[in-house]
Amino acid sequence: MLIQRPRRLRGTALMRDAVAETTVSAKRLIMPHFVCEGSGVREPIGAMPGIDRVSIDNLACDVERDHACGVDAIILFGIPAVKDEKASQAYAADGIVQRAVREIKRAAPGVLVITDVCLCEYMSHGHCGVVRDGVIVNDASCELIAKTALSHAQAGADIVAPSDMMDGRVAAIRTTLDACGRCDTPILSYAVKYASAFYGPFREAAGSAPQFGDRRSYQMDFRNAREAEKEARLDVDEGADIVMVKPALAYLDIVRRVREAVSVPVCAYNVSGEYSMVKAAAAAGRVDERSIVIEILTAIVRAGADMVITYHARDIARERWL
Ligand code: PBG
Repeated sequence: MLIQRPRRLRGTALMRDAVAETTVSAKRLIMPHFVCEGSGVREPIGAMPGIDRVSIDNLACDVERDHACGVDAIILFGIPAVKDEKASQAYAADGIVQRAVREIKRAAPGVLVITDVCLCEYMSHGHCGVVRDGVIVNDASCELIAKTALSHAQAGADIVAPSDMMDGRVAAIRTTLDACGRCDTPILSYAVKYASAFYGPFREAAGSAPQFGDRRSYQMDFRNAREAEKEARLDVDEGADIVMVKPALAYLDIVRRVREAVSVPVCAYNVSGEYSMVKAAAAAGRVDERSIVIEILTAIVRAGADMVITYHARDIARERWL
């Protein structure tokens, strides 16, 4: 005689829904956007079907339209017209992200605006920090990163999200924000960011591939898991309000570990390569896109993510997939 029959709770949709352990809500999702100079610009990104580089006017329309369907949060990446060795456009008061934030706040004031704080899109060499003699210099980079975060906050960003992986940048940002009257702006730190081939399509989108070498002297080695806890704790100690794990899919063990190591909210980034693979497989008729996307996002949340940055956010909201 079988006493335990787990199938009893799987018999009907009503029963399954009643006992489901994980629910994904559109409220947890954050939609990334790439904003560039010009007006009326909309350039499709080859490797990321459905995602475009857009000028500020089109961005404001997209954000407003997505918001009407239920996308309440976005993260912004800027593509400047000029790059240099000091990433001047990253912290310019009239830089591309700063202007975009002001315009979104005017057009769609109900949207939570997160800005990616990094130098790679603004540096002529494409690295996330200052380069001297072929070396990425940590502390000088933190100064520029803190300046960039401040300029985003001053433009109206609700949350600043440093993605550079320099040591001590969360502390540098917190100090700078506080000294300039921005003690209420939260920091979402890309605390646990691995050097990953999954960022390939993003670098095409943002034109931010490094011109020499790679990012392994600052982004994490994917062989390491204990180190994720160290990075997450360090950032929380420095003042991070939310920590991120990136990428997400091949790193669900890391999401879980970080969830258990710290008590702040954990965000996971379902990155460009993960999106591209799903889109390519769906376009080839190999998988059912809706089912795959919901399964992936549920798994990320089940692993412990409170928030998920995903390029699927718009499709999910518009098509009412949840
Ligand atoms: C910038 C940055 C990157 C991503 C987010 N911020 C690229 C990188 O580190 O090379 C990747 C996002 C994605 O792949 O979707 N430092």
